[in-house]
Formats: sequence, C-alpha cells, structure tokens
Amino acid sequence: MQRRLVIAIDGPSGAGKSTVARSVAQRLGYRFVESGAMYRAVALLALRNKTSLEDDRALAKLAETAAMRFEQKDGVNYLFLNGEDVTEAIRSPEVTDASSIVSTHQEVRNHLVKSQQEMGSEGGVVMEGRDIGTRVFPNAELKIFLTGSAEVRASRRYREMDGKIATASEEVLRDMAERDRRDQQRKVSPLVAAEDAIMIDTTNLTADEVVEKIIVLAGMRAQ
Ligand code: DC
Repeated sequence: MQRRLVIAIDGPSGAGKSTVARSVAQRLGYRFVESGAMYRAVALLALRNKTSLEDDRALAKLAETAAMRFEQKDGVNYLFLNGEDVTEAIRSPEVTDASSIVSTHQEVRNHLVKSQQEMGSEGGVVMEGRDIGTRVFPNAELKIFLTGSAEVRASRRYREMDGKIATASEEVLRDMAERDRRDQQRKVSPLVAAEDAIMIDTTNLTADEVVEKIIVLAGMRAQ
C-alpha cells in the first residue's frame, strides 16, 4: 500500500497551478483543493454585502461563517458557497482583484487556513495556492513551487479568459504584475517558496510535462 501524500503546489498566478494540480489529483485519485477559490469566495461575499475591503473584522466574520464545499464533476472543480454554485461568479475581474486585497488580512487567512488544514488532514490531497507549503502544510511530503516568465503566465491567463471579457493582453499583464506584487509583499504569508520546495520553471513546458515530473516525484515520496 502506498502512502497517501499531501502535495502542496504554490506559485504566482498563471504558472499553471490549477491545471497541473487538477491533473495530478486525477491521476493519483487524490482530492484537489484550489485554495485561491476560497479567498475569491470571501471577496464575492464582501462585494455583494458592500463590506469594505479594509474592514478586518467584517471580512474575518465572512470567512468564519461562510460554508464552502468543493465538488469535482466531469473535470470541473465546482465551488458551492452557502449552498450556491459560485464557480463562475468567483472568476469575474472584480472578484479577482478584490480577492487579492481580501487575502492580505491575517484573520481572514487564519479562518481559511484552518479549513484547508481540515480538508487535507487525512492525506491524499493536492492543494494549490500561495502559502500551502509554507503555512498550511509545512510538513507536506511533497512541495512544488511553479514559476514562469511574466509574459508566458499572462498569455496563459489571457487564453483562459477566452474572449469572455473585453480585456487587452497588455492589461492582463499589468493587472497580473500588480497582484503578484501584492502577493509577494504582503506582511502575512507572502508568496515565497518553502525552503524544501522543488522549483519547476514552466516557461517552456507543457502542462502535461509538468504533471509527469510531479507524478514521478510523488511516486518516490509515497514509497
Ligand atoms: O489562485 P487565485 O488567483 O485563484 O487566488 C486568488 C487570490 O487569493 C490571489 O490574489 C492570491 C490569494 N491567495 C492567497 O493569498 N493564498 C492562497 N493560498 C491562495 C490564493
């Protein structure tokens, strides 16, 4: 019997974390958790309730009381927030921007990190985000940090949007750079590779090639 690992995949936006983490989880029969979706869900609630994005207390309360449930079906990772399917709603540009501010609040992070730790407590999970290897699972058996040139990451994001919203590619690059800066410079749990993380530069790799590398590493760690 192989051990069921906790696999932490961190990195900046557009490095391919979600695509790669989803495939790795599918291949191994593990649970896949997209932690960014949880920050997005709190941001969505805040925008709907007109809660100030500076109001620590109110945002923390939203994070504490929101019921979030992931469900994987036909290759799609659905998120239900208080029973409502918000899979699409959390991907809007407004929510994307708000989530990067919401995620700077310590109390919000404390609540979401606790839920994430519970989701992975029994192993057999691939969790992707910014602080999974440093804060959520500092003892994860396998930690991966995906990087990639800003241009390549922005063009992936642009293609992902698939013409759904009218945004120029330069704008995507600029917005992404701003969110990267916020993620890297925030005081609490900034985006940084764990010391024991394995770095994979995805600039010249396909998602499948990255997945293969991680599957090999996971096989070695699970023995
Ligand atoms: O991965 P994403 O773009 O869906 O994440 C949305 C925001 O949440 C992003 O600005 C970074 C933040 N985030 C975080 O601070 N910590 C995580 N573990 C995951 C995401």
